[in-house]
Amino acid sequence: MTVAERLRHETRALHEQTEALLYAESLRSGALNPEQYRHLLRAHWTFHQALETAIDQNPAFFQSYDQDDRRKTPWLEADLAELNASLPDTRPDLFRHWSPVDLLGAAYVGEGSMLGGKAVMHYLQKSPELQPLLANARFYRGYGVEALNKWKAFGAILAAQKEADHDRIIEAAQQAFLAYHDIFRHTQPQHQAVA
Ligand code: HEM
Repeated sequence: MTVAERLRHETRALHEQTEALLYAESLRSGALNPEQYRHLLRAHWTFHQALETAIDQNPAFFQSYDQDDRRKTPWLEADLAELNASLPDTRPDLFRHWSPVDLLGAAYVGEGSMLGGKAVMHYLQKSPELQPLLANARFYRGYGVEALNKWKAFGAILAAQKEADHDRIIEAAQQAFLAYHDIFRHTQPQHQAVA
């Protein structure tokens, strides 16, 4: 099995748990409210801010990843500003001792999460309470027409990794999903910026 196939299989249960934790039921029924939407955006910002910072510290390993074309924090910051919501505290501890190979496992989680974005945007738009807030929503539009190309380019990076590193990449991806759970549970949904 390729490392990409193993990642999909060996994180499938964690993906399901993550979806369920991150309000999938309210989302799918078109009942997500603005407080929950803010909570999601703030949790995503915490994860991506920590990951982007860690990847920036390993420019040689991540050269072909083209991080500047994949940054999600500017999108999340624009969306949170639109909602007049503050940014959470950063979590510099999150990826502190992660090697570049470990970070690739975390990047799999971050990049993969973009694949579901289109479906999530559709569900968000089903919620009458959210509709007025989504005109300029950016994060869940993700990479748009570039999504498939970006996912394939990321797959090529995975395919270039040594077999001896595959177990580490998978374990790191599993840890990154669990980090998402931890972030979500510890992020306040409705901390408002002071006007
Ligand atoms: C309710 C929220 C979510 C929905 C509806 C959803 C849905 C999806 C869908 C439909 C795909 C497959 C896309 C395709 O094969 O073209 C996918 C893939 C993926 N999602 Fe999600 N997702 C959600 C949340 C998340 C979150 C929060 C994360 C990360 C923490 C995540 C990580 C991933 C990963 C890593 C993949 C790639 C799986 C693979 O290797 O093919 N997803 N998601």
